[in-house]
Amino acid sequence: MAESDGVDSAGAPEKAFYVTTPIYYVNDAPHIGHAYTTVAGDVLTRWHRQRGERVHFLTGTDEHGEKILRAAEANGMTPQQWCDHMVESAWKPMLAAIDAANDDFIRTTELRHTGPVQQFLRVLHDRGEVYEGTYTGPYCVACEEFKLPGELLQPGDRCPVHDRPVEQLSEENYFFRLSAYQDRLLAHYRDHPQFVQPDSARNEVVRFVESGLQDLSLSRSTFDWGVSVPWDSSHVVYVWIDALQNYITAAGWGSDPQRFAGLWPADVHLVGKDILRFHAVIWPAMLMAAGLALPTTVFANGWLLVGGEKMSKTKLTGIPPQRITDHFGSDAYRYYFLRELSFGQDGSFSWESMAQRYTSELANDFGNLASRLTSMVERYRDGSLPAPAPEPALAGALEKTVLLADDRMCAMDFQAGLAAVFDYVRLVNGYVTDSAPWVLAKDPARAADLDRVLYATAESLRALAVLLNPVMPKSCARLWTSLGAEAALGPLAAQRVQDAGRWGLLQAGSQVRKSEVLFPRLPDDEPAP
Ligand code: MSP
Repeated sequence: MAESDGVDSAGAPEKAFYVTTPIYYVNDAPHIGHAYTTVAGDVLTRWHRQRGERVHFLTGTDEHGEKILRAAEANGMTPQQWCDHMVESAWKPMLAAIDAANDDFIRTTELRHTGPVQQFLRVLHDRGEVYEGTYTGPYCVACEEFKLPGELLQPGDRCPVHDRPVEQLSEENYFFRLSAYQDRLLAHYRDHPQFVQPDSARNEVVRFVESGLQDLSLSRSTFDWGVSVPWDSSHVVYVWIDALQNYITAAGWGSDPQRFAGLWPADVHLVGKDILRFHAVIWPAMLMAAGLALPTTVFANGWLLVGGEKMSKTKLTGIPPQRITDHFGSDAYRYYFLRELSFGQDGSFSWESMAQRYTSELANDFGNLASRLTSMVERYRDGSLPAPAPEPALAGALEKTVLLADDRMCAMDFQAGLAAVFDYVRLVNGYVTDSAPWVLAKDPARAADLDRVLYATAESLRALAVLLNPVMPKSCARLWTSLGAEAALGPLAAQRVQDAGRWGLLQAGSQVRKSEVLFPRLPDDEPAP
């Protein structure tokens, strides 16, 4: 697909590559565990955008349910006031701090969501998927989920995710016939191996469904902060049933069929591993029940750990993203989390490893390469880029790097994708050191060699700016401008990953300007915050 105008040859909107994050509970402020999934989603969509695809990136907030109601009460506000306050003062600023370029932000208290949620419930009801019954069981308010007695930590019947005592709930509710979907779900997992990723998550889901499914309570009647059940206003829709639908309501289901056709099914739902069952079991069963297409992939990422445990606000271990971005900048933040952790596995953040990667990989390897090259072209060639010349040692490696990085980033193996790109950065640094352009510059007879080295280094940086732009958009835009590439190649956003490995795209005479330092040195004496 070429850089797209979003319309196919028949004039219908081309389906976008549609990526979602979980919608976040607004009972509390965000920490880097929440931001982790959002950074991954943002990089994934920017990567596909850089491939010339039409993309759509959705994130948002989950605003109903008992947990939010209790937080609002504790803060002396109405639930709606509390949600408005948290979205504006905490959640949207977090997105700005990590430089997320989401195309939409859905709030579950918006009418464009609540109306269609009621319609969806009616569809399930009309299709005979809902019945009235009673359920008694242990409930964790922090998870907003009934637990299976066998899952609880002992002593004291504690939630395995939050390590807090569960509450016994007994309710007359409406139920969704989830148990009827066991075979269809298992068939879907079997026929679509990419549906749940990574493999460890897939195996867990298959085992869980094989062990049998219970019907799911889809309403609550003990409080009223939620979407009211359309045929019985004494009940509100269970917050998870309401929340999962954000992926279709934001895409226009129930309000804008054309928009919906251009977005659904989602290509990737990114979720934390603790909410995998909701997305890989309950959600597809709900979609099947309503006769809608299933998302292509549910990818479960691991947790950020502190002292071996899931980072959490409840346990006062949550670090706000801004504490890190204020110190290192958003580009380094985005790079660090994707390079340091293996997506899909648990991992830890530390100030030391963040500072170490910043200094050695970003400031020394990448940033220095850019400033070395741009200042040499200024000094030796008056800022005018020499003519393209072949450099097989770099060109072949670059082509392979682009293919490998594209393959890994599309597979959401961000760590390997970035490792491949930074292997190339180191190769080019070695090439510059070995070619010693500062020596060549002293010998007029070697002018052609100097031209070749300068061009090859600039051309490598041109490709690096394209490959790293989805991860570090601010620095790459600056690098692009300082390479003088704008005029020759058009705006950065138009540069496709697939073309990044073509040698000779930078044109002779491009005006190269010494770049401002991309990653300033960290003050030595400043202690980690
Ligand atoms: N509101 C639900 C999701 C509904 S999606 C239809 C919810 N919200 S949450 O705010 O509690 O969590 C949102 C996401 O943040 C989850 O994917 C969760 O895994 C993730 N994380 C919360 N703490 C985390 C870490 N310490 N590490 C990584 N991700 C973690 O669940």
